[in-house]
Amino acid sequence: MALKTPASRQTASTETRIIRFSTAERTVHWAVALAFLYATLTGLALWSPRLFWLSAIFGGGTTVRAWHPWGGVLFALFFAVMFRRWNRQMRLDGDDRRWLRLAHRYAVHDESGLPEAGRFNAGQKALFWMQASSGSLLLLTGLVLWWPEIMPRLLREISVLIHPIAAVVSIGGLIIHVYMGTAAVPGAFRGMTQGWVTSEWAASHHSKWYREIRRR
Ligand code: HEM
Repeated sequence: MALKTPASRQTASTETRIIRFSTAERTVHWAVALAFLYATLTGLALWSPRLFWLSAIFGGGTTVRAWHPWGGVLFALFFAVMFRRWNRQMRLDGDDRRWLRLAHRYAVHDESGLPEAGRFNAGQKALFWMQASSGSLLLLTGLVLWWPEIMPRLLREISVLIHPIAAVVSIGGLIIHVYMGTAAVPGAFRGMTQGWVTSEWAASHHSKWYREIRRR
């Protein structure tokens, strides 16, 4: 794997810190997250009358109608930057496919027999490709719904159906992602906020990656 990540090590008083994400990676990640949350919450407000109350948080119905598509465009742009940076590291290899077949063990914290994970494990990679696919569908169908008057009827009908389905898939993926990045894997969140993890964390969750950066 071509790691461009600055993976330097430095000894702190009590633990060895390992750089997990560079400042640029973290900035892009949180820009993606903010744009995604804005597009999601404003989209939910427009989607269901029961959720219309959400629009009050974002300046009312008219503002939300006008700005939701721009939130989506911003999300797509930031995600494209993230995609460019990470897509090579997210390619699934033989170990990843074996990991996915045994993913039920990971879910119950029994990692025996699971292939070692590199910088990203197979679940993270799969979620990345899922978000890239549903994000692309959201963008394409969103553009059709933004300018319905110049779009053919069939395209409009397909988009009305696909746009919310892709949104539900994306939101489902995000719920899993946030759970994994916070409650399920303590230490991961600090990696994405402060940029570093402990060597114990790296060795236990991403042992192949840990060995690679130790060799440098
Ligand atoms: C909004 C709340 C979010 C939180 C709390 C969060 C948290 C995190 C954390 C802690 C990591 C580092 C995991 C690790 O070191 O292994 C991470 C990585 C990542 N995040 Fe997020 N994230 C959020 C939103 C998003 C969104 C909206 C996307 C894209 C649609 C996204 C895409 C990614 C990707 C592709 C990675 C690298 C692979 C992975 O860890 O899954 N994140 N996130």
